[in-house]
Amino acid sequence: MKIKQYSHDLISLIENINNSSSFIETLNFINQTFSAFIPYSYIGIALLDDDKRFIKASYGVSDGSIKGLPENIIGKFWELKQTSLWELVATGKPRIINDLEAYTQEKPITAYNKIIMDAGIKASITLPLMLSQEPVGIIFFSSNQKNVYTKEHIEILQTLATSIAISFKQNIIIENLIYSSIMAMAKLSEARDEDTGKHLGRIQEYSRFIAELLMEEEQYPAEIDLKFVDEIEKFSPLHDIGKVGIRDGILLKPAKLTADEFEEMKKHPLYGAEVLEAVEENIAKKGKSIFRMAIDIAKGHHEKWDGTGYPYGKKGEDIPLSARIVAVADVFDALTSKRPYKEAFSFDASLDIIRKDSGKHFDPTIVEIVLKHKERLKKLYKTLM
Ligand code: C2E
Ligand code: SIN
Ligand code: SIN
Ligand code: FE
Repeated sequence: MKIKQYSHDLISLIENINNSSSFIETLNFINQTFSAFIPYSYIGIALLDDDKRFIKASYGVSDGSIKGLPENIIGKFWELKQTSLWELVATGKPRIINDLEAYTQEKPITAYNKIIMDAGIKASITLPLMLSQEPVGIIFFSSNQKNVYTKEHIEILQTLATSIAISFKQNIIIENLIYSSIMAMAKLSEARDEDTGKHLGRIQEYSRFIAELLMEEEQYPAEIDLKFVDEIEKFSPLHDIGKVGIRDGILLKPAKLTADEFEEMKKHPLYGAEVLEAVEENIAKKGKSIFRMAIDIAKGHHEKWDGTGYPYGKKGEDIPLSARIVAVADVFDALTSKRPYKEAFSFDASLDIIRKDSGKHFDPTIVEIVLKHKERLKKLYKTLM
């Protein structure tokens, strides 16, 4: 059966992935290791895009004393020339700012500096991240105290910056590899559908968007952190991977499914879980469970809040949060898209359906937050159409 080959391919893919840890883990490690030597409350990494025009706040770890970081900054980007960072990047030299407030008095406050000053940061050391003499980004250590940084700190950090750049490069390569392979696999599962590539990309964007809103609004704070957001982005496209086990005659039927056909269709969450669990079993030997969320999503994305969904009829918070988020993203995308069996609904009509199903099909907390940020969703929807 197709599912067997599929599992096999995924397993070899995952074996490769498994040997690497994520960059965030590296950053957390640095965070723990260096806090004894260097005073800081926040470490951030901003990366240059390929043509070095933009710099994007990409990773951050905080000791918790800094309000709103990294959430308020991750994902934001600036034209390099509009920031004070271009000089660092051009010269490759680190910079110490021991009094950010005084420093910004001499010049217009950049959007970036406003965010970190609002968060309470008073001083920072910024080092360029160089790979084979080429700048790839910057790392900065910042403190909520003034006048804490010295030249010695720079010396320690410069060595560190080099290893970070290397570790980062390796992780990026591996992560890109994982990512494109996973996407290729997911596409395979739906390759018979014309614009699946776009569909998967949209599920990803919507799922990430919702997770970020929940983080922003401090809903489910115990579950949602940057790793969660990262993972939901990575794994949400795998939600329908089990459709690989569904016959074309059913999957592509340009009409309503019969009751029997729908019964068959309802097996796709468990097929998906089967594939991913086969993979997971292989990985578990090494004591790591990278596919936990992917399995939760595949299995749980058709469960409903009131317990009337499938395959298990799980209820409320018994359904994993990742699956509850993907359920909203998936249905929103299904509604706003044309399918072999249906036409696309408008943005408003689709949101109305989701609103009506709040507390029945969907987690009401998620629906409430999504509706609160309806305009932002609409913007995203327009860019993805
Ligand atoms: P899908 O097309 O990706 O749809 C995902 C989910 O979006 C559906 O899960 C349903 O909850 C929601 N959805 C899609 N279209 C509509 C709609 O017109 N109105 C409302 N209120 N909700 C909608 P569901 O129903 O469990 O279906 C799972 C999968 O089964 C679908 O994924 C699709 O592949 C297939 N399917 C469902 N109904 C039909 C059908 O009538 N014909 C065909 N050919 N396939 C169907
Ligand atoms: C940035 O724009 O990410 C950083 C740095 C700084 O001014 O310290
Ligand atoms: C559903 O999403 O389960 C269908 C309910 C509706 O059409 O509003
Ligand atoms: Fe599905």
